[in-house]
Amino acid sequence: MAELRDPSVLFFDSGIGGLSVVKEARIILPGLRHIYVADDAAFPYGAWDEAELLDRMTGLFETLIEAFRPGLIVIACNTASTLAIGHLRRAFPDQVFVGTVPAIKPAAERTRSGLVSVLATPGTVRRQYTRDLIRQYAGQCHVRLVGSEHLAELAEDYMRTGFVDEEAVRREIAPCFVEENGRRTDIVVLACTHYPFLANRMRKTAPWPVDWIDTSEAIARRTLTLVEQMQFGPRDFSLPDIAVFTSDDPRTEVMRLASGFGLSTEPFPG
Ligand code: DGL
Repeated sequence: MAELRDPSVLFFDSGIGGLSVVKEARIILPGLRHIYVADDAAFPYGAWDEAELLDRMTGLFETLIEAFRPGLIVIACNTASTLAIGHLRRAFPDQVFVGTVPAIKPAAERTRSGLVSVLATPGTVRRQYTRDLIRQYAGQCHVRLVGSEHLAELAEDYMRTGFVDEEAVRREIAPCFVEENGRRTDIVVLACTHYPFLANRMRKTAPWPVDWIDTSEAIARRTLTLVEQMQFGPRDFSLPDIAVFTSDDPRTEVMRLASGFGLSTEPFPG
């Protein structure tokens, strides 16, 4: 009989944005232990050189897999997934990875005007992976890629403090809104896991209403589908759901925030 997998799922992001996925996953996957990893020492990922980021992530995953032996891994970060998901699957063939990539296919299926914008980090916008998704699924649409320099950081500030500069949000999202031959952008894909936390501020500062596609729930559901096809051992409920940070000193407000998502903060392994 095949060995049972450890009843845990490890979520990985550059910062605290991946909590948007954990929030959904904890509801539908109570039988698994949730381990959240934020590479906050390297945040933001959006501006990193691709080869250096790939090296960094490979090293981190060696440590994380060794320490936690997770039953499943969710890369809750578009910037990391679009760069590294294929590489990580090859480097760690015994692990099952779920990626988070821009929701270009659903946007292309849903748009009425044919004008779709993808709001993401500069890294995700640059990726060949993203360009390939557009070519494959959105050939008949006009897709505008908007690489935002500051939104992920604004989202982190907002999550920590409850305050955000709305004028800065307005400036960052403004390039998503296109008017062309009497048609207007009607869908904006939130292609960064940090952005759902700012969705209300985006709605408020948008020049006209659009459909904002947030994939957090879809990622959690995809994870559930895979979990149902795999064999996991029973969860030991005495082990709490946890958050670990690569920086030496996650700030008190981050620990408080993690605890609001049901995660207790533990030191990075090793
Ligand atoms: N949360 C990450 C994503 O989904 C990106 C944030 C960053 O590190 O720039 O793309």
